[in-house]
Amino acid sequence: MITTRLHPDKRTAAQAIAREMAELIVLRSKSGKPTVLGLATGSTPLPLYAELIRLRREEGLSFRSVITFNLDEYEGLGPEHPQSYRRFMEENFFAHVDVPKESIHIPDGLARDAARACADYEASIRAAGGIDLQILGIGRTGHIGFNEPPSSADSRTRRVHLDELTRRDNSVFFGDLAQVPHGALTMGVATILEARRVELIAFGEGKAEIVRRAVRETPSAACPATWLQRHPRCTFHLDAPAASRLQP
Ligand code: PGA
Repeated sequence: MITTRLHPDKRTAAQAIAREMAELIVLRSKSGKPTVLGLATGSTPLPLYAELIRLRREEGLSFRSVITFNLDEYEGLGPEHPQSYRRFMEENFFAHVDVPKESIHIPDGLARDAARACADYEASIRAAGGIDLQILGIGRTGHIGFNEPPSSADSRTRRVHLDELTRRDNSVFFGDLAQVPHGALTMGVATILEARRVELIAFGEGKAEIVRRAVRETPSAACPATWLQRHPRCTFHLDAPAASRLQP
């Protein structure tokens, strides 16, 4: 089931989600349990990472007990590449908080044997006890992670081909469409649906139509985000423009 939550602006949304994450981390660490977070990249979660970093610096929130799994990585981009998600996460989050290095997992865009790397990634998530809370963005194709249409509900971590619309949308970060990789490694829809809690964030008018489809259309591979309707605890955090097409 998808619950929608309207926020006045990005910062307030980030504060609400960060607070929820902090409460979960503190609660679980009190009973000696790790917190397994599924993390996302792109411009949408940046205010969330900024708020988590503030909680670390100003309120002493510790991430020592946190284990992270990122959703995806571009194929062919290594940690040194400015547009790799490994680098994005390092610059925008990990360099500023105390998540232990060995607790950070991001698919390896340079893996020689992608199928093996993806199977190992699934195994690592299982070994960590599964994801407690998954952060998601949504692409205009309906992708979650890089699960482009068509992506079935039972898809697992795998190598995928990026949709041309996604490549165009992401070309702003690369400066040139030709530089945007054609492939990626991504957690699957089934992997995402197994997270115990899912928090999807979407801001702005440009996401209004895909948010409407994700919430209202019958679940199908044609719009992978619709599979979230089958999740027992999924919240869409929206600003007014992103929510503008949800009214009946
Ligand atoms: P964005 O990407 O945050 O840059 O809009 C979201 C996504 O593609 O999942």
